[in-house]
Amino acid sequence: MFNFDFYNPTRIFFGKDRLENIDKNIPADAKVLITFGGGSAKKNGLIDKVKANLGNRKVVEFGGIEPNPRYETLMKAAEIVRNKNIDFIMAVGGGSVIDGTKFICLASFYKGDAYDLLKYGSAQITSKVVEKVVPFGVVLTLPAAGSEMNMGAVISSEEGKFPVMSALTFPKFSILDPTYTFTLPKIQVANGVVDTFVHTTEQYITFPVDAKIQDRIAEGILQTLIEISETTIAEPENYDARANLVWSATMALNGIIGTGVPQDWTTHMIGHELTALFGIDHGQTLAIIYPALLEVRRVQKQAKLLQYAERVWHIQNGSAEEKIDLAIQKTREFFESLGIKTRLSQYGVTSDKIPVIVEQLKIHGLTALSETQDITLDISQKILEKAM
Ligand code: NZQ
Ligand code: ZN
Repeated sequence: MFNFDFYNPTRIFFGKDRLENIDKNIPADAKVLITFGGGSAKKNGLIDKVKANLGNRKVVEFGGIEPNPRYETLMKAAEIVRNKNIDFIMAVGGGSVIDGTKFICLASFYKGDAYDLLKYGSAQITSKVVEKVVPFGVVLTLPAAGSEMNMGAVISSEEGKFPVMSALTFPKFSILDPTYTFTLPKIQVANGVVDTFVHTTEQYITFPVDAKIQDRIAEGILQTLIEISETTIAEPENYDARANLVWSATMALNGIIGTGVPQDWTTHMIGHELTALFGIDHGQTLAIIYPALLEVRRVQKQAKLLQYAERVWHIQNGSAEEKIDLAIQKTREFFESLGIKTRLSQYGVTSDKIPVIVEQLKIHGLTALSETQDITLDISQKILEKAM
């Protein structure tokens, strides 16, 4: 196992009827901005409930944070934070609203040009860069991104999708009530299953470092997803199935399974380009790239692929190659069983677009991806060709 630092200060309130914790965890005299998305949380009454739990505090609303939150939109909210002296933000939504809120928290009092905050990549933005960061809490409505218990955000601009990492943007608390996710369209639930699955495998199917705890938690998350996904998509109000999806999504990306192990975020990086160029949903981009990546990288990942085949899919017969073949096939079939297409061509993207995607990877400096930084642009091109 590699050396690691672990820090996660987010307080979790999980289960039904936990909104009273808003009042208990925000200063009584705070002026609060509620951030939300395109309107689902407004329509189903959740924003009103959050407001009721804020009691007599002064409240300002900012709606309209779009999926794949955009810099320009978030800067409008940052202006409100400054002008209205906001001192706490309540994000009500999925990954886009939470990520967007993290950026608002960083950008509101940043002294320079906030656009620069998009250019840090995987390097962390510290208090030396941003002196004052607005604290925030979360009410989660979509299990997928894991943003409710981590320090990452992904922000979009006309130049592409940019990761923004800062330990200053862990939520102070997150309320995870599975019933708030009951109104999700089936496709968003399926996207969430794929996102959670691939977050887990990108920290698990790399090379072995004898990290038994991390491996077994990862395998537990993957097996849970395989067990509950059909039920939670077919029966949105099945509380237990949905509760297990919500906690899987949080656990997959709160840092625990990624401690002390190699990580391979290639699928996410290529996926971000597909969203930026063609508007394909984040979860769908992962379902397109991941099976193709496994085929291209089966030699480098052989030991962990075999472990994945045996422990997650319970494949016991056949040679190592046959087991790996079957595990990759089962991965693709799993995504398709959720109603998600796994071929780029099925989203209307033709093979003449591959050089355009590769060029974007180059522009964004994504020329040495993977757990061993050896995925060059040529290899990314091969992955895209396999994904057609
Ligand atoms: O905007 P509204 O009207 O609320 O509708 C949203 C949106 O259209 C809808 N929705 C959310 N909760 C709902 C609901 N509809 C009905 N009932 C509910 N309870 O769902 C749509 C998608 O929402 P979005 O927040 O965009 O989805 P998701 O949670 O999948 O987030 C995707 C974003 O997260 C980033 C992605 O890049 C993408 O921008 N990620 C962030 C990560 C992180 N911070 O660590 C890691 C992930 O890899 C991911 O990249
Ligand atoms: Zn993701």
